[in-house]
Amino acid sequence: MHIGILTGGGDAPGLNAVIRAVVKTAIGRYEWEVTGIEDGFDGLIERAFKALRPMTLKDVRGILPQGGTILGAANRGNPFARRVIRDGQPVVEDCSGLVLDRLRVAGIEALVVVGGDGTLRIGQELYEKGCPVVGVPKTIDNDLGGTDVTFGFDTALTTATSAIDKLHTTAESHHRVMVVEVMGRDAGWIALHSGIAGGADVILIPEMPFRWEVVAEAIQARSKGGAKFSIIVAAEGARPAGGEQIFSRAGDGVTTVARLGGIGNVVAQRLEEMTGLETRCTVLGYLQRGGGPTPFDRLLATRYGAAAVRLVAEGKFGHMVALQGQEITAIPIADAIRVPKRVNPEGEKVRMARDMGVCFG
Ligand code: F6P
Repeated sequence: MHIGILTGGGDAPGLNAVIRAVVKTAIGRYEWEVTGIEDGFDGLIERAFKALRPMTLKDVRGILPQGGTILGAANRGNPFARRVIRDGQPVVEDCSGLVLDRLRVAGIEALVVVGGDGTLRIGQELYEKGCPVVGVPKTIDNDLGGTDVTFGFDTALTTATSAIDKLHTTAESHHRVMVVEVMGRDAGWIALHSGIAGGADVILIPEMPFRWEVVAEAIQARSKGGAKFSIIVAAEGARPAGGEQIFSRAGDGVTTVARLGGIGNVVAQRLEEMTGLETRCTVLGYLQRGGGPTPFDRLLATRYGAAAVRLVAEGKFGHMVALQGQEITAIPIADAIRVPKRVNPEGEKVRMARDMGVCFG
């Protein structure tokens, strides 16, 4: 058996741990051949066979604790809708046939696709066109259905919580309100978990549009009650009720997605005007995607990688490895991408946070 592996979409800590586990299991346990595909589907389309890298045990030595991905990742393009120039004009084309041809010519008999919602969607479509695909769920946002956790989330959460801890001390020294903008396009998991773990006073998430007056009142009430500082954690996708998400760049909705960003500064400015309290904003941005994975993510990513190879051995294509409870299991990729995982505004975690005095606006 000859398997290919690619990492698609935005990177996440633990990608290298998955690659290592796939290579070690495929070679060590099954004596298979493994080829790494550089820069995701884009690599295969743009660089053809030059993007293919034979993987040996030596190639994955020492990469377990490393952040990023030794294969490179790309989240610009979807092979089913790629922007290409034809006769000097930009047009959108379906290049999926090219991907399938190149995999076939390279002799790749099974493809391990490591990615989030977008990449796994591509994997599913390729599977429907006859490609033997197995998925591994990755995203720091933790918003993929069918699995309790995606790898990368715990590391991002650790980074965000440690940043909130640090901002706490400087907020207290200067008697300021601190707004921390964390990632989370449509799901507020990083904001909710880091906000609770870091003792935030206000948490703003995409699933719960907030009211300015309610947030301002909560901050003022803390100040009147003697608190000399307040911490607000805002997911980048949070928005006021009746308002829109804030973007730093527009997208065309086909080949480029709009880039979120800016809600933290908007919240800081507006609240300072409303409350008269000095307010600052810190945007954590890509720090949350960088660095080495936590022990939790190393273990999870390794379990996922090894399980993905077992799925190939069982011929269970069109499936994604998943964590359900304590067990690694497999679910159809179609099920994982059908319903994204969102924070339940009525759920136990939000109720518990409210009991801790957290305001959700
Ligand atoms: O990995 C998901 C994510 O972190 C989102 O929260 C964020 O909007 C996006 O990636 C940004 O990634 P990029 O700028 O690389 O497209």
